Order: sequence, then C-alpha cells, then structure tokens
Amino acid sequence: MFLHDKHGRRISDLRISITDRCNYRCVYCRSGSDGPQFPEMPIADYLRMAKVFVELGITKVRLTGGEPLLRKGLVEMVRDLAQMRTLEGAPLDIAITTNGHLLADMAQPLADAGLSRVTVSMDAVDPERFARITRVANGYEKVLAGIRAAQLAGLDPVKINCVLLRGFNDDQIAAFGRFARAEGVVVRFIEFMPLEEDRVWSPEIVITLDEILRRMAEFMSLREIGHTGSETARRYVFEDGIGEIGIIAPVSHPFCGHCSRVRVTSDGKIRTCLFSVREHDLAALMEAGASDDQLADFLRGVVDQKEGRHHIGEPGFIPASRTMVHIGG
Ligand code: GTP
Ligand code: 5AD
Ligand code: SF4
Repeated sequence: MFLHDKHGRRISDLRISITDRCNYRCVYCRSGSDGPQFPEMPIADYLRMAKVFVELGITKVRLTGGEPLLRKGLVEMVRDLAQMRTLEGAPLDIAITTNGHLLADMAQPLADAGLSRVTVSMDAVDPERFARITRVANGYEKVLAGIRAAQLAGLDPVKINCVLLRGFNDDQIAAFGRFARAEGVVVRFIEFMPLEEDRVWSPEIVITLDEILRRMAEFMSLREIGHTGSETARRYVFEDGIGEIGIIAPVSHPFCGHCSRVRVTSDGKIRTCLFSVREHDLAALMEAGASDDQLADFLRGVVDQKEGRHHIGEPGFIPASRTMVHIGG
C-alpha cells in the first residue's frame, strides 16, 4: 500500500520546492546572474499534490526553495498541511529549509500555523566569511536573529546546514562546534555535491566526513550516537554531552541505499533523485483534469522507477537536469 520503489525502498519523505527565487547567491548553489526561473504553481496545487502523496503513505513534508520564505501564502500553506493526517492517523512532520534571512519575523507565525521544525542554512559563524559565501552583505546578523527566533517560537530541533568548501569556510569547523554548544542548535556539515550553477565542484574542494571528524577532534572529541536508517546525517555529541553535530556525507559515504525521498519542483515536476536527469510532469496531468486516483497511479509508477543511487565522482557522471536552487536540498 505504501509508496515503494523497485529497489524495495519505502518512500515516506516528500520535499516540495515552492519557489526557485532566492535572496542569496551562495557559491555552492546559485550563480551571481539571474538564471532562468521556472513558473510557480498556485499553493493550492502543491497542497493537492501533498494530499495525494500523504494518501500514499508520506509522513514527512519539507518545504524548500529557492528560498521558501519569499513565497506569499507560506503560513497558510503550513496551516493546511497541519490539518492533514498520515495513513496511521498522526499529524505530518512539517519542516522548512530556509536561508534564515526572513525568519526572525516569520518563525512565530509559522510555529503557530503548525510547523514542526526548521533547518537554517548557515555556512560561517563569521560575518565576513558569511558574506563571501552568500554574496550578500549584512546577512549574518539577520540569520542569527532568525535562528534565535525559531528557538523562542518552540521550533525543535533547530538544525543548521553548513556546506563546507575548501578555501571558503573550512576554517569554521571548530567555531561551529562552539556555536552548536553555545546556541543549543544541531550543526550539520554537508559534503559539497556537484549541483551548483557556478561549476566550481571538484573532489579537492569537498571536505569529507573523515576530515571534519579529524579537525573537530582538535577542538573536542565527538562520540557517535545512533541515527535512523533513512536519516541523511550521521550524528555525534561532544564528549561532555553538550552540543550535537551532524555530518551529511553523500560524497564519501553515500546513503542512497536507505533513500526515502521524492521531490516536487516549484513548477510541479516530480524528481525521484537529486541527480535525476529526467522529470515527471505531475502539473501537466493535473491541468489535464486528472482525478486524485489517476494522480496516485501516476505517482506509484514514477516512484517505482526511482534511481538506485548517484554517481558523483565516477567517470561518465551526468549532471542533474536542474541545479540545487530549483530542487531545494
Ligand atoms: P530531516 O531528517 O527531516 O531533518 O531531513 P534531512 O536530515 O534530510 O535534512 P535536510 O532536508 O536539511 O537535508 C540536508 C542536506 O542533505 C540537503 O540540503 C542536501 O544537501 C543533503 N541531502 C538531503 N537529501 C539528500 C538526498 O536524498 N541525497 C543526497 N545525496 N543528499 C541529500
Ligand atoms: N551540495 C550540498 N548541499 C547543498 N545545499 C545547497 N547546495 C548544495 C550543494 N551543492 C544545501 C544547503 C541548503 C540546502 C537547501 O541545500 O545547505 O541548506
Ligand atoms: Fe536518494 Fe538520489 Fe540522494 Fe541517493 S542521491 S540519497 S538516491 S536522492
């Protein structure tokens, strides 16, 4: 009954990109120029898609972008998602991945609407380095205020995503360790994947899990704690029990075998993998007047064909058909 793919993986995690606009230009994501933008669907259409997915066994919905907080109607969308129930009758786990720039004012309304938790991208704990990566001035203070507002609003846990790039922010590892301990947030370091518009990826620029652990140990030792099968991050606590660190290592330690994710782009296309080279046009089917049952049949067939794994770093690697700003992580 639940959504499965032909590799036997249960698909329980839906990610919807609700806009590919963004107010930052992070070097690992979006180029400085205004690239082509795909049309946004009405929020009601994403909600209908979500409902059909939930009836197929989805239990987690993550809203992404671009920058999702730029999208009008986000709070109402969260309120509507919060009304939905999983097949087991439980509320959905509703999360947002945001750059945090607008979060200070929106955290409380989003929490009130039923948001479960938030992940904030933050790639340096130093304003100058932060500006160099995001290519926006004065963002650091706003993001910090956003993180604190999310905690005050009771969003729990607040996770921080930090994509490490050699030569940009690899000197921030210990500083992030201190930050996690002082602020009570979970800091997750992410290995850089070749999904950016600027084409700067190379194996040498990636800071791997092993290197992160080695360098963090110079600050303080970490102890690994358990993580669930479909979780992207390996989890660690500092030896004194204060502060949690995660490491998401898709390049050096791929986790595709446990992948539970399916994605919808802002223009209503299904992506069965971050690295898909082919999309499936759910929006067109909806426009053509398909019933919910027909949409569900379509989704079962599409998810069945989900890619087995990515091929980062292998000879003949074919880049994804869209870059991260259109997919949302
Ligand atoms: P929760 O467990 O719900 O908190 O979600 P998560 O841990 O997957 O968090 P999040 O959505 O913040 O994802 C963190 C980052 O992991 C993303 O920004 C991507 O860089 C990476 N990531 C997430 N999903 C995948 C995936 O399916 N494949 C690969 N290769 N990387 C992924
Ligand atoms: N590689 C790894 N993670 C990335 N993200 C964006 N681009 C990349 C990339 N090329 C992550 C950011 C952000 C989320 C949306 O995706 O950390 O939090
Ligand atoms: Fe899943 Fe594709 Fe990510 Fe692998 S690369 S974990 S298959 S989405």
